[in-house]
Amino acid sequence: MLENENRLAELVPGLKSGACRAYWFDTVSSTMDAAFNLEEELVIDRTLVISDVQTTGRGRYSRRWFSTCEDIIFSLILTEYDFRVPYSMLSAYAVYITLIKHKAPVMLKWINDVLWENGKKISGVITEERKTRTVIGIGVNLNSEEIPPPVRNGATSWYIETGKRIIKEDFLSLLIIELFSILDRVKNGEIEQVLHEWETEAALLGKRVRIINDSGEFKGIAAGINKKTGALILNRDGGQLEIYEGSLIAVSDDEY
Ligand code: BTN
Repeated sequence: MLENENRLAELVPGLKSGACRAYWFDTVSSTMDAAFNLEEELVIDRTLVISDVQTTGRGRYSRRWFSTCEDIIFSLILTEYDFRVPYSMLSAYAVYITLIKHKAPVMLKWINDVLWENGKKISGVITEERKTRTVIGIGVNLNSEEIPPPVRNGATSWYIETGKRIIKEDFLSLLIIELFSILDRVKNGEIEQVLHEWETEAALLGKRVRIINDSGEFKGIAAGINKKTGALILNRDGGQLEIYEGSLIAVSDDEY
């Protein structure tokens, strides 16, 4: 475990004051596993588990997550959490804001994706819960020169789109500031305001969409998101349906 205190203290706001903790590994199987495997006495609420390399990074729906040591991969352990809060969605929003502040032309896609303007995915978030921990895993493709075949067409990186490299530590630091600020707001009772901002930024209202999840396929017109849970509100057949999980596909009028 690489625990370079100076490097981390500079990088992570709140580390010096003890408001959070951070561990930086060279290589792990997945920062999610590393986060769940950390011994109890090493963990406080807001413990970051960062790694340069992941040998078996995982995404949603049992997909693999590929990254190089120049990309961002980390997990955040929460021990004080509210099971109703859509942490993945909020974390993707933090990634989105950080990228927008870097002038990246990115878009939010319900529920927790951040896409480049060409529709390719640049970041993914997953949240898992076990016993007393909720762990949020965040991956951002920053400096990857290529994306491996299984996801090549659907994913991209900052470097692929701009031809420029970005200093990983700088981006990570700003992302953590953004993420902690959102989590603070939510803890202070501002979840409705934050999700309202998400809804405005995502420009989803009125779009015809198709959602695929474990229960099947649902078509309708996006009427917004539930401001407490992040569920997508779908207008269909004269009624409304709230969907909590799934892959969203925007559809054209002809397809509908
Ligand atoms: C997805 O879009 O399917 C979610 C991808 C999540 C990837 C990150 S990288 C850091 C953390 N460790 C993992 O194994 N996965 C998450």
